[in-house]
Amino acid sequence: METKFEKKLLCIGAGYVGGPTMAMIAYKCPQYKITIVDINHNRIAEWNSDNLPIYEPGLDEIVKTARGRNLFFSTDIDKGIKEADIIFVSVNTPTKTFGVGAGMAADLQYWEKTARHILQCAESPKIIVEKSTLPVKTALAMERILTSDNNKIHFEVLSNPEFLAEGTAINDLENPDRVLIGSRQTESGIKAGNELVEIYANWINKERIITSDIWSSELSKIVSNAFLAQRISSINSISALCEKTDADINDVARAVGFDSRIGKKFLNASIGFGGSCFKKDILNLVYICRHYGLNEVADYWDSVVKINDFQKGRFIIKMLTAMFNTLVNKKICLLGFAFKANTGDTRESPAIYIAKRLIEEKAELVITDPKALKNAKMDLKDIDGNVKYIEDPYEAAAGSYAIAIMTEWDLYKNLDYEKIYKSMIKPAFFFDGRNIVDHQKLFEIGFNVFPTGKPALTHF
Ligand code: UDX
Ligand code: ADP
Repeated sequence: METKFEKKLLCIGAGYVGGPTMAMIAYKCPQYKITIVDINHNRIAEWNSDNLPIYEPGLDEIVKTARGRNLFFSTDIDKGIKEADIIFVSVNTPTKTFGVGAGMAADLQYWEKTARHILQCAESPKIIVEKSTLPVKTALAMERILTSDNNKIHFEVLSNPEFLAEGTAINDLENPDRVLIGSRQTESGIKAGNELVEIYANWINKERIITSDIWSSELSKIVSNAFLAQRISSINSISALCEKTDADINDVARAVGFDSRIGKKFLNASIGFGGSCFKKDILNLVYICRHYGLNEVADYWDSVVKINDFQKGRFIIKMLTAMFNTLVNKKICLLGFAFKANTGDTRESPAIYIAKRLIEEKAELVITDPKALKNAKMDLKDIDGNVKYIEDPYEAAAGSYAIAIMTEWDLYKNLDYEKIYKSMIKPAFFFDGRNIVDHQKLFEIGFNVFPTGKPALTHF
């Protein structure tokens, strides 16, 4: 039975990266056996159920097609390691919360445990593929651990960073702008790199599969995210200026984006970027630069994070000032909690910060989101305040003094805002942290509207 597969691929870490990525490989390549393992038993049980642990449009269909055919989810990590030819590592690498580099450097404890686990169980040569975003030169550390046992078994370490964005992961995996594979520039390194190229070439044009040395590949991932985050901080910084000068950030972004050298994408002003990658990767970049004494470079990238914090802080000040400088006992409805639309993920979501600050002001919160309420409850579980979680947006908004859009879900673009207005305390306030509703229309309904980077529309 087992011999029918051409290759056996294992992925350690069944999260937002490992799950969808390996499911796509399994879907496209029935000739390979793909096993995904995790230490978290609940997570694996969910992957094996009808309720997958992550919400990602299109993921269910792909998993249903491949699961049991050539895609398997398991907690038997030892067996997985033993039988695999190629091992993808996509365990979590959060920012360190303790010791040297706390708040900046990556916490590599899960990742190192995985390396040691591979070493302990492997009985044959393997290719190890770094999928988690890691600081530059981490592959070297992986190599050192794997060769610490007197080279009994040969391991070739590759870097293959993941560029998928949540909410569009399936399309990003099916039609990626590029796949990047970094290897040692030795004969065996290049051979291993080519083996991985051939896996992706099953469905991706080879022109889009780029190869490089390992360090450049690792750095490219961090730099890509830093550039993307920098665009958002750039437009968000200008949104603050627009609000002072009555310019319109959408008009500015459109005019700027028409320059093909700049491009139109990723210029939406917002309450700030969230997600598991942007902040973490920039902090990593800052940390590496400081380590090498490049303080000016470190400061430059650090300012991208600072502007993001400024943008979130500004939103709270805007709410507070508009609502007569007090939010005490005022019910405020947050429309959305996920860090972006089409995902249930709330990691680093600006909504977490906004919610905490509103609670500090003693506001009463009602949070609604079509997919992220479970995570929102976990994010705010230690918070001492009046917070309710209600799935229905109309019910959530009823009786509130203000609505604040946190996430750009399509659902919120076309709610019956007339009905919502009638159900609210007057004067009713509307803060659009994503610029997704028709501000003029809301103003005409009666709301006092505060968009991002545009003049406010108020009745007083
Ligand atoms: C990002 C990268 O896009 C992806 O390539 C990488 O692999 C992982 O990190 P992700 O964090 O999933 O992906 O989502 P992304 O679409 O990049 O959005 C990140 C944050 O920026 C979100 O909070 C989003 O709302 C915000 N954003 C994005 C804006 O505020 N304005 C924009 O114009 C675009
Ligand atoms: P990402 O967004 O990078 O995919 P996640 O946190 O969603 O991050 O997923 C990482 C997964 O890795 C988690 O499900 C976690 O349980 C798993 N994991 C962490 N350490 C190990 C380990 N040593 N062995 C197996 N799985 C691990």
